[in-house]
Amino acid sequence: MPESSSQFALDGYHAFMEVVSKRITTRNFRRDYAVPRSHYELIVEAARHSPSAANAQPWHFVAVTEPSLKQQISEVYLAEQSRRVAIGMRFPQVAYDTIATAPGLIVAAADLRFSRVFPVPRPEDGDSDENAPYYRSAERMTIQGEAAAVMAAHLAATALGYSVWWVTATGLQNIPDGIAGVLDIPSELSVCDVMCFGPAEGPTYKRWKKDVTEILSWDRFDRANLLSDIEVSDWLTSMPVDAFGSGPPPERQARRG
Ligand SMILES: Cc1cc2nc3c(=O)[nH]c(=O)nc-3n(C[C@H](O)[C@H](O)[C@H](O)COP(=O)(O)O)c2cc1C
Repeated sequence: MPESSSQFALDGYHAFMEVVSKRITTRNFRRDYAVPRSHYELIVEAARHSPSAANAQPWHFVAVTEPSLKQQISEVYLAEQSRRVAIGMRFPQVAYDTIATAPGLIVAAADLRFSRVFPVPRPEDGDSDENAPYYRSAERMTIQGEAAAVMAAHLAATALGYSVWWVTATGLQNIPDGIAGVLDIPSELSVCDVMCFGPAEGPTYKRWKKDVTEILSWDRFDRANLLSDIEVSDWLTSMPVDAFGSGPPPERQARRG
């Protein structure tokens, strides 16, 4: 590559990294700000360029602007959170009530029927043991495509100057079903994620990220970076209470010396 075009590519990279590194989660947004409709459109415009398996583009986005709907979505999360507290599940506590006051809110859903268009060994046998792993793999691909689009949406919101919050709606069925009920999302679609965005209320901070050397191997996997089972299971317990504070958990600091 000629030197000038290499410089050109690096300029592009730096501009891109400016957005990538500015994307940080915030869970509390200013309440006095209204997101213009055009910003919702710009964000979804970025999402629609995303890659997806077989270019199925399995996503749909619902821009939620009515405060009463945001409130109901927040209540879906709060109800599940109360249930977890009641049964003594240990998980970092997040204030899901701020979903209700997020200036911007987009719900992302995936049409998992697209998973079924991928070939399986014996289509005539439906969900047979032989077909099932292929169906599972196709469903994972479909959800990966949806996540790629959500990430593009988060980066676009960051580029517009907003703070963002990715809230998963996968997992227990009561959350996606609850949100689908609030927004009239048809049962053919699966609610996957909620994206909140807006100007942050209060200070924000960049969270600790692994070094490139810890996550990149060359040619063969570098086992120096393989965590033990104990390190993996200690992961959440050694995390700061807000799930996910700015510094590495203590045991990782020790590991790095
Ligand atoms: C797939 C996915 C699911 C997430 N789900 C939640 C969630 O349910 N609740 C929450 O508060 N944060 C959620 N987050 C945000 C993460 O906690 C956050 O990205 C992580 O702590 C790293 O912080 P950063 O975004 O500032 O880099 C999710 C992020 C991703 C990518």
